[in-house]
Amino acid sequence: MGHLGIGVLASGRGSNFQSIIDAVERGYLRVTLRVLITDNPAAFAIERAKNHGIEHLVMRPKQFASREDYFERIAAEMKRREVGLVVLAGFMRIVGKPLINAFPGRIMNIHPALLPSFPGLHGQRQALDYGVKISGCTVHFVDEGMDTGPVIIQAAVPVRDDDTEDSLSARILAFEHKIYPEAIRLFSEGRLSVAGRRVVVKGEDIEGVGLTHPPAGP
Ligand code: GAR
Repeated sequence: MGHLGIGVLASGRGSNFQSIIDAVERGYLRVTLRVLITDNPAAFAIERAKNHGIEHLVMRPKQFASREDYFERIAAEMKRREVGLVVLAGFMRIVGKPLINAFPGRIMNIHPALLPSFPGLHGQRQALDYGVKISGCTVHFVDEGMDTGPVIIQAAVPVRDDDTEDSLSARILAFEHKIYPEAIRLFSEGRLSVAGRRVVVKGEDIEGVGLTHPPAGP
């Protein structure tokens, strides 16, 4: 252990990518970040990769003959670099079959809602519009559906009456930055197994789960 190679796919700001970089640099994660692949040449994630000496590739779908071809090539670039886990960090596309088939049970995603509620885009806005009182974030394995794969870790946050999309997103993001490195660590230590839809975690309790505000007594 200790040499799990990670390949990151990101489309934008890359704050989750940064939380993973930071976790590696402070020794919490004993993995190697081998490559960032982005579909967006303007992604700030690229700056983060440069700042930390991580190779990056810009691969835009329109450069490829088809969606299949695109994900085939992404898989090939990951394989070439001996990536053992693909981490989606704000990658705003549905992953194509060739990548899923190349990394069975070895692709993770983070989503800013408590799945299966509010999949797809704008999970935080969907939660506000629906009027739920609790939302949060989910790290899950990726399957062919949209945000449908087995759940690894979730964290819950309260939704406040005066929340805006921005304020709720910020509250959730703080927990994304905590549970994503945690999920990757569990994977890298060989402590995750999937039984049907359930991800079983070996060893001590994980930290990410649970409400952030335990109920006060009467
Ligand atoms: C994060 O909130 C992530 O959960 C979300 O995009 C944001 C990316 O931020 N992902 C999705 O909505 C996927 N459907 P980041 O680029 O700063 O990590």
